[in-house]
Amino acid sequence: MGLERKVAIVTGGAGGIGMATIRALAQEGANVVISDVNWEGAKKLEESLVSEGGKALAVQTDIANLSQVKELARKTLSTFGRIDILVNNAGISPKHQGKKRNLWEMGVEEWERVIDVDLNGYFYCCHEIVPHMILNGWGRIVNISSQAARSGGQVAGSHYTAAKAGVIGLTKSLAGELGKYGITVNAVTPGRIDTPIIRDVPPEVNAEFARRTPLGRLGTPEDVAGAILFLISDAAGFITGATIDVNGGLGMY
Ligand SMILES: NC(=O)c1ccc[n+]([C@@H]2O[C@H](COP(=O)([O-])OP(=O)(O)OC[C@H]3O[C@@H](n4cnc5c(N)ncnc54)[C@H](O)[C@@H]3O)[C@@H](O)[C@H]2O)c1
Repeated sequence: MGLERKVAIVTGGAGGIGMATIRALAQEGANVVISDVNWEGAKKLEESLVSEGGKALAVQTDIANLSQVKELARKTLSTFGRIDILVNNAGISPKHQGKKRNLWEMGVEEWERVIDVDLNGYFYCCHEIVPHMILNGWGRIVNISSQAARSGGQVAGSHYTAAKAGVIGLTKSLAGELGKYGITVNAVTPGRIDTPIIRDVPPEVNAEFARRTPLGRLGTPEDVAGAILFLISDAAGFITGATIDVNGGLGMY
């Protein structure tokens, strides 16, 4: 694919899908920025990539905090001089004893925090980073939504489902605005992917997802990273405003 000299930011870069995406981007020669609230995880990944000869930068960021997102853009520019690729991937999906809370039983603070991270955070990152892509006349934005946005969600709460549906709308709207600048904006909707975010439900719930999936298993972080890399590649140069399901056939829309 050849992403040498391209600079890519992945939010939630220390998590399951984020780390697989960072590693895949680094493999293609990109300079990668691992943005995460989890400082230890981000720093460890940075050290590992640098020891392998890659160019990586860890930045502790809460994407729900606009000033921290501004700092993410500033540190990326002062280290690598440009921003070409943004993968909006950080996300939360709160559970209580392994279960979501129904909308009317959920605290308002919980609703607000999920919307802040899973939707407002995506807006903040686009808001701060898009102007730098416009300057370059080229850019790739991939927003990680969820199958919950397509299906209504079974194990995720209404806040998560609403935020992830909002991410698809944001993707389409921004794709329309940015086409003339050579920037594509697409969404990926993962199904059940084996990462820490799904491990707070009882194992039988995930086993049931695997049983109902036509391809007969949960997804891997690499399955999702593959779709993200495709959307960043030249092969996807005429694709924008699209939503790609990566779910093993669990949902067909
Ligand atoms: N795993 C799945 O089955 C699945 C399905 C559909 C969608 N997704 C989405 O994929 C994305 C990645 O999730 P994952 O499966 O890798 O889970 P994960 O929990 O392994 O990774 C999420 C990462 O986001 C980080 N994070 C959380 N809040 C943050 C914040 N405020 N600011 C910055 N970073 C923050 C976490 O520290 C973590 O590293 C999420 O948006 C998630 O909603 C996952």
